[in-house]
Amino acid sequence: MARRAVVHGIGHAVPAHVLSNADLEKVVDTNDAWIMQRTGIRERRITTAEETTSQLATTASLEALASASLAPEDVEMIVCGTVTGDMLFPATSCLVQSSIGAKRAGAFDVGAACAGFIYSVAVATAMIETGQISNALVIGADTLTKFVDWTDRATCVLFGDGAGAVVLKGVEGGERGVLKTALLADGGGACHIDIEVGGSRYPAGAAVSEGHRRGIFMAGAEVYRFAVVAMGDACCRVLADAGMSIEDVDLFVPHQANLRIIESAAKRLKLPPEKVFVNVEKYGNTSGGSIPLGLYEAVEQGRLREGQVVMTVGFGAGLVWGANLIRW
Ligand code: UT7
Repeated sequence: MARRAVVHGIGHAVPAHVLSNADLEKVVDTNDAWIMQRTGIRERRITTAEETTSQLATTASLEALASASLAPEDVEMIVCGTVTGDMLFPATSCLVQSSIGAKRAGAFDVGAACAGFIYSVAVATAMIETGQISNALVIGADTLTKFVDWTDRATCVLFGDGAGAVVLKGVEGGERGVLKTALLADGGGACHIDIEVGGSRYPAGAAVSEGHRRGIFMAGAEVYRFAVVAMGDACCRVLADAGMSIEDVDLFVPHQANLRIIESAAKRLKLPPEKVFVNVEKYGNTSGGSIPLGLYEAVEQGRLREGQVVMTVGFGAGLVWGANLIRW
């Protein structure tokens, strides 16, 4: 009998502070009409100087554990998809492990940028399916606004901060659970989205780092073209693997980077608008937080119910992309 990783609880966290397009008009040469028309983003949440990724991840995790009725000390593995951890090391998942009191859990981070939650769910699912663990707390959390170049209008309008978390539990038999996953990468496109300074190539403060970028760089048009193709590619792969068709999908929860990208991908996949979840207008691109935040709100709004099939798909810096097909 197949053992599946079933979603048992979900949580979320966003910072309280709202940064609107009107606020951004005071920071760079931009305007609400351009941002809305090119991206669909109306506002985003941003962390204060004191707020960290692990704090958002902790709040989301505690809510997920409560909704799954799982005590922190019974969590066996914590996987956190993030590229904006509190520090280069230790892993942010370890900080969460301590703050929630998950005394028996292992913990590691997954660095797959905006596909971080997709990758993390896939890894935790494999560990559950193979019997290594019986449950996992899987988090997607990022605070990209801390790394934004606030003088670069082409990128600073796009990002926001947020986190989401799910509890996966191993269940023998049954229909529910993660059905198929697809994980893909093309490091040849690494130069299209990056932060140069802060790693071992250009350490912060080192002479070799002079003149290199400390904030987020993105070749918008290249990433846009990649994103539309990558989303379709990942979705088609998991559907083929699962022996299912797009008509079997009840809800599509894509990475929320840009409304136009989501609409183009949905059109290519022949998904009607009522099956496509969008909240990019409220949060902008929250990287690893975006898909679990979408799932959380879809559940809240009654658009995703137990037994329904949801397609989650992400793409981002790496380049990486991937999808998880889940019977909720
Ligand atoms: O999760 C990570 C993945 N990232 C993404 O998915 C982002 C993918 N890319 C995009 O979403 C889009 O490429 C952007 C939203 C970033 C840009 O949209 P675009 O339609 O590709 O615009 P563009 O970069 O071609 O710029 C068009 C014009 C330029 O002016 P000129 O050269 O035509 O005079 C830009 O300088 O818009 C200008 N522009 C702006 N104007 C007002 C760029 N940013 C802004 C701005 N406000 N914030």
